[in-house]
Amino acid sequence: MSKPVLQIEKLSKSYELGKRTVPALSNLDLTVNAGEFVAIMGPSGSGKTTLLNVIGCIDKPTSGRVLLDGIDVATLAENQLYKIRRDKMGFVFQTFNLLPYLNARENVELPMEGRIKSKSDRKKKASDLLAMVGLSGRESHRPQRLSAGEQQRVAIARALANDPAYILADEPTGNLDSENKQGIIKLLANLNLTQGTTIIMVTHDTQAARNTERMLLLKDGKIVKEVQGLHANKKNQKCPYCNNNIQSTDEKCPTCKKSIYATEELF
Ligand SMILES: Nc1ncnc2c1ncn2[C@@H]1O[C@H](COP(=O)(O)OP(=O)(O)OP(=O)(O)O)[C@@H](O)[C@H]1O
Ligand SMILES: [Mg+2]
Repeated sequence: MSKPVLQIEKLSKSYELGKRTVPALSNLDLTVNAGEFVAIMGPSGSGKTTLLNVIGCIDKPTSGRVLLDGIDVATLAENQLYKIRRDKMGFVFQTFNLLPYLNARENVELPMEGRIKSKSDRKKKASDLLAMVGLSGRESHRPQRLSAGEQQRVAIARALANDPAYILADEPTGNLDSENKQGIIKLLANLNLTQGTTIIMVTHDTQAARNTERMLLLKDGKIVKEVQGLHANKKNQKCPYCNNNIQSTDEKCPTCKKSIYATEELF
């Protein structure tokens, strides 16, 4: 049994807008175990980004608790939270948040400062990560000289800069064409399978969500449904239809030839 890396208890978050209170998350409970790959889906405004920001210690809950590796984050000082974010988490923001005056490679290198001493090692790692997301040859482009999909892939490369234990990704395939989308989903699924990276991914894309292990549906700041995804079958190494053995790389069951997709209907 893997242990929980994230425990959320009775989490509520609301924003004050003048005299109005806007509820974003309401009494939400969630546990994510080490090495899980979880998708969060839900309509616009249902609280997905807010939830990711609270998990990533970027935003504070109005009430309730968030425990990372068993530690209540409310008990940690800002510099401790900064270190957790830098050393353990890779964050892919919905709006990318690349620094406009740095080129693609420098953006990816930035989180490595203070972690990797040698400048040339940082440069090499950033170039390798950019190559992994299909951006070789774009290293010296600043964000405004990159397409939205290219900026998104720079943001993904930056999230991987410090080999994070957790990846929090807010619609990481939202701006990608189908080929690049598949590439990124495979990259994440592979990191999860081979490195045991815990991944929480917000997505509107059912195909991307099916490739995870567990899909959660958020509505009005609450988790209203949970469904098992394709990646769970791959990890169990059993076909969901005939129960014969499969390999994690199989797209179809070698015995019954069925596509190894979610065992239940999507939401
Ligand atoms: N800084 C803020 N101030 C006030 N209200 C906010 C703020 N951020 C989010 N909200 C509100 O909180 C609710 C949840 O927003 P959130 O951004 O988490 O939704 P989301 O599910 O990520 O939506 P989308 O799919 O459009 O990205 C919405 O009603 C939104 O208007
Ligand atoms: Mg959002």
